[in-house]
Amino acid sequence: MEKEKPILLSGIKPTGTPHIGNYFGAIKQLVEFQTLGSHQCYIMVADYHALNFVQNAGDMRDLTRELVLTYMAAGLNPEKVVLFKQSDVPAHTELAWIFDTITTMPYLMRAHAYKDAEAKNKEISVGTFNYPMLMAADILLYDTARVPVGQDQKQHIEYARDTAEKFNRIFGEVFTLPEEHIVPEVAIVPGIDGQKMSKSYNNTIPLFATRHEIEELVMSIVTDSSGDRPENVYAIHKLVKSERELEPLYEEHKGKYKALKEALIEDLDAFIAPMRERYHDLNADPRAVTDALEAGGHQARERANRKIEEVRRAIGVS
Ligand code: ADP
Ligand code: TRP
Repeated sequence: MEKEKPILLSGIKPTGTPHIGNYFGAIKQLVEFQTLGSHQCYIMVADYHALNFVQNAGDMRDLTRELVLTYMAAGLNPEKVVLFKQSDVPAHTELAWIFDTITTMPYLMRAHAYKDAEAKNKEISVGTFNYPMLMAADILLYDTARVPVGQDQKQHIEYARDTAEKFNRIFGEVFTLPEEHIVPEVAIVPGIDGQKMSKSYNNTIPLFATRHEIEELVMSIVTDSSGDRPENVYAIHKLVKSERELEPLYEEHKGKYKALKEALIEDLDAFIAPMRERYHDLNADPRAVTDALEAGGHQARERANRKIEEVRRAIGVS
């Protein structure tokens, strides 16, 4: 029998318009893994994670659709990868509950996301507090070996690994220990204000921005006037063009921020245009998203249901 390929799983929350930070930090790696064919890939829309932030049915539907179209326009092919919605696989929330029972509050209180929210004096939801356990369930249900994410998710993968070890210690060997996969040079894509690009900071360049939007956003990139080279412009530029090609350009236009921004506009637009076109084509097809999610949900459920049965047996409820 042919040996099963190792499992790769990743997910994004449908909480806002996807941006180039999501693409370079996460989605691009997934497309590369699909091309490589080294893993069986499970790509998820983390809608139950998003529910901590998006609490309006229309918005949830629109954002979910937008994210599926993004995955597909960026190059993921639902015939090659399992593209699915977290809420279509009830075993995720079931397993998260089981993990809650073996996890202590102080351990979850050490999570960065929780500490940040605390520091901002936010009254966070129980769902946000428990977020690492649902994410551990997402990963461990599929015997995932590899989880491609941006740097900000590293701790969550450590939580998943710790939780797998703890469960295995208590109930016997059930879970595979996952490893994160982080590409160092794009670990943190900066936004137009120089901070980490993030939906929550209002500093993004949307992945399917129009030419006009790209022009406006690039022109508003914050540049510090002390040096010859606008670092925030360069950091984004090197995502779409090699440093070897950029060196002479930045040398020639030393201190001329406007010319460098104009070059970035051209290069970003050339990079985004084909994906933007695919996005619009897919968006015009009323079945593209529903068909993909239906097929993916079916495959994901099949695998997850087998695993949750194994878990139920291990804990003695089956
Ligand atoms: P946001 O911060 O905009 O809310 P998410 O938390 O939804 O983004 O992130 C989705 C995926 O994209 C994650 O794997 C995350 O690590 C990656 N990612 C998000 N922003 C960046 C960034 N600025 N640089 C690199 N990767 C990022
Ligand atoms: N927490 C991740 C984020 O905010 C999204 C996510 C949910 C995820 N479940 C996952 C990523 C499982 C990788 C694997 O970006």
